[in-house]
Amino acid sequence: MLVLGLETSCDETAAAVVEDGRRVLSDVVSTQVDIHRRWGGVVPELASRNHIVQVMPVVHEALTRADKTLDDVDLIAVTSGPGLIGALLVGLQVAKGLSLATGKPFVGANHLEGHLLAIRLLEDAPAPPFLGLVVSGGHTSLYEVRDYGNYRLVGRTRDDAAGEAYDKTARILGLPYPGGQPIDELAQKGDPEAIRFPRALPGDNLDVSFSGLKTSVLHHVQKHGVPQGQALHDLCASFQEAVADVLSKKLVAAAKKLGHHQLVLCGGVAANSRLRALCKQRAEERGLRMFLPPVRLCTDNGAMIAVAGYEAWRRGLRGDFRLAADPAWRME
Ligand code: KG4
Ligand code: ZN
Repeated sequence: MLVLGLETSCDETAAAVVEDGRRVLSDVVSTQVDIHRRWGGVVPELASRNHIVQVMPVVHEALTRADKTLDDVDLIAVTSGPGLIGALLVGLQVAKGLSLATGKPFVGANHLEGHLLAIRLLEDAPAPPFLGLVVSGGHTSLYEVRDYGNYRLVGRTRDDAAGEAYDKTARILGLPYPGGQPIDELAQKGDPEAIRFPRALPGDNLDVSFSGLKTSVLHHVQKHGVPQGQALHDLCASFQEAVADVLSKKLVAAAKKLGHHQLVLCGGVAANSRLRALCKQRAEERGLRMFLPPVRLCTDNGAMIAVAGYEAWRRGLRGDFRLAADPAWRME
């Protein structure tokens, strides 16, 4: 079954062609970061307008690279939530339009389910049940994946998402948006123990919190000025260590509490080098298996939406022309 996956929920316009929910034939991402960077974050209206410009060229490119035409496609999967309403509507209307023009069916896919199921594109993918931690710009949520389509939210951030903490910290430090990658790169040459930033691990539940960490970075900068040179490397490494420490601890604690032995990390922040390493290390120390999608599949892409759409289709979900975008669609 050939699925065309379409993603426009935030600031990446992405399309991919995936076979049987497992084999990526093409995966095209057109990012808008250069457009949003000067505003220090995603401007929803600019995102919608640029999706309109990019979406058909991206779809065309995905089909061309897969050496397929719309005639070959069996299903169009599109992110219908959660995300920015205007941005979601662009992808959804395109999916409906393509469906109407070609007679091919379409289905709405959940963006978070896409992040979680991107792991299926690994050759050695875990079969449910597993624990999946989605860490992105908009979400930090821990799910028990009992089966495909059967998810239970078991922990989440009480305030900022992990990616948001990265992006806000980058802003404090005068680094470009989005801040995850620049901080990750600067941290490589820093001392993670230079500054002991707070770790918020509220109680023995599975929630996390990052607003205190962000404020702590702000106070540090207010006291010592914006760091330069080695001090900047050290601050980035110390901040990164705090985020990775909290998330990896919670993940393995959740595995113990809920009796899971397969763990999945996904979403844009799962591209983070220290988080990947620490999760893997802590999981292995406890005899748990840690599954990490390749970095390219961590940030928003169309392939993950093709997988989520394929699974939704197999569960019997069908899109019809009344399907509305749901900016706050809860996967569970
Ligand atoms: O999943 P994603 O592409 O979009 C959302 O659904 O939000 O995640 C984007 C987030 C941004 O906050 C970005 O700063 C963060 O992922 N990110 C990283 C890294 N690469 C991207 N955070 C930490 N380390 C990275 N290497
Ligand atoms: Zn995402």
